[in-house]
Amino acid sequence: MDIITGNAVVGENYLSTRKFLVDDLRDYLLKGKSVLIDSPRRFGKTSVIKELAFQEESQNNIKVLFLDIESEKTVVAFCKAFFRKALSLFPTKERNERLKTFFGDTWNMIAGRVKKIGGHEFELELSEKTRDYDFEKWKEVINALLSGRPTGGEKVVFAFDEFPDLILSLKENADSAADFTREADSLLAWLRSLRQESGQHTFVFCGSINLNYTLDAISARHRINDLERLVVPVMDKGETEKLLATLFSSIDINVEPAAMEFLSGICMGGPPYYGQIVAKEFKSGRVKSIDVETAMGLVDNMICGENHDLRHLRTRMNKLFSSSELMVAKLILKALCGAEAMPEKRIYDEYISGKCDYELFAAILGRLTHEGYVMREPEAGGGIRFVSPLFKKWWASKEESRQ
Ligand SMILES: Nc1ncnc2c1ncn2[C@@H]1O[C@H](COP(=O)(O)OP(=O)(O)OP(=O)(O)O)[C@@H](O)[C@H]1O
Ligand SMILES: [Mg+2]
Repeated sequence: MDIITGNAVVGENYLSTRKFLVDDLRDYLLKGKSVLIDSPRRFGKTSVIKELAFQEESQNNIKVLFLDIESEKTVVAFCKAFFRKALSLFPTKERNERLKTFFGDTWNMIAGRVKKIGGHEFELELSEKTRDYDFEKWKEVINALLSGRPTGGEKVVFAFDEFPDLILSLKENADSAADFTREADSLLAWLRSLRQESGQHTFVFCGSINLNYTLDAISARHRINDLERLVVPVMDKGETEKLLATLFSSIDINVEPAAMEFLSGICMGGPPYYGQIVAKEFKSGRVKSIDVETAMGLVDNMICGENHDLRHLRTRMNKLFSSSELMVAKLILKALCGAEAMPEKRIYDEYISGKCDYELFAAILGRLTHEGYVMREPEAGGGIRFVSPLFKKWWASKEESRQ
């Protein structure tokens, strides 16, 4: 198992205790259900889809067409990306027939130049041909393409990664609230009809921004109420130990039991990402055997230094929030530094009240949750806590040095 921090992991690098998520996803898809994976940032959402695609390369029950749409800012750009992906459903000869129908007479002239779908020449021709296409026209084109899909044994799944980002982009770029509602609603209605009416296509929608919440605001939640929800859970102690033991043995580091107890204590309760960060740090520490003192020393060094993957959590916050929101976000984290978990209302009453109204506080807390900084304990009425003890330790040490 390689140490990987940031990119999706597959195969040998996918922690075996998490493979149940891939099995659950596969079960839903084979039953013809579409799925929403909306967990906070860095929880391992993309890895679940990519691991499924990887496993299915040899099993051939499902064909996963993966599309990262984070950079698609408009419905038309999304449709174009969707169209390109849908073309890959067809074997070369059939695809060329489809393209011939799509491009009309010009295809005979350009076919020789178009080396591959998505290549430079293809993109030029596609842009030229679709310059005036609006959403209605794109729907027509994609509906026609999908209805002619070859009937093979494999189930086709379109996986739209970072889908909620597209909805947020529509919101940010719309001229009015009414325009946003209309645009988002018609996109969601179309995708719903594609998965429901044809019965042929299933979709995985993936992202860290709470889609339900965004859709509630425009009364469009019913457009996704047929989706099964796959929740990516945090790791318990046993799973954390398994992750750390596997990562450390892959870099030939022996971890004594007391050191393992300490390290799993600072990584458990969060996603695997934090275990990966610790292992990466220890790999560069060049120690071959770790007792508890060494482990504590290395973690302290890491926390005091600035050369680790936790740093981006701070830089990202600066991008996410305006300066007044950032002040509130930092106060929330500061409050949580001093507690295991704290009820939302208490955070507001004791640390925020007077600085902003409850609505804004709740929105900032929501954002911190989706971005993977804090989470609500799963039991009913559970308090808010840092997602990871390691992140908490680092943030608390920065708080101390600020005082
Ligand atoms: N099954 C796993 N086994 C081992 N490590 C994992 C696993 N899943 C996730 N990770 C760790 O978490 C990191 C993030 O994983 P991934 O990119 O899949 O998360 P994500 O939820 O899609 O993140 P983002 O919200 O940024 O898109 C990986 O680089 C890896 O360090
Ligand atoms: Mg991802």
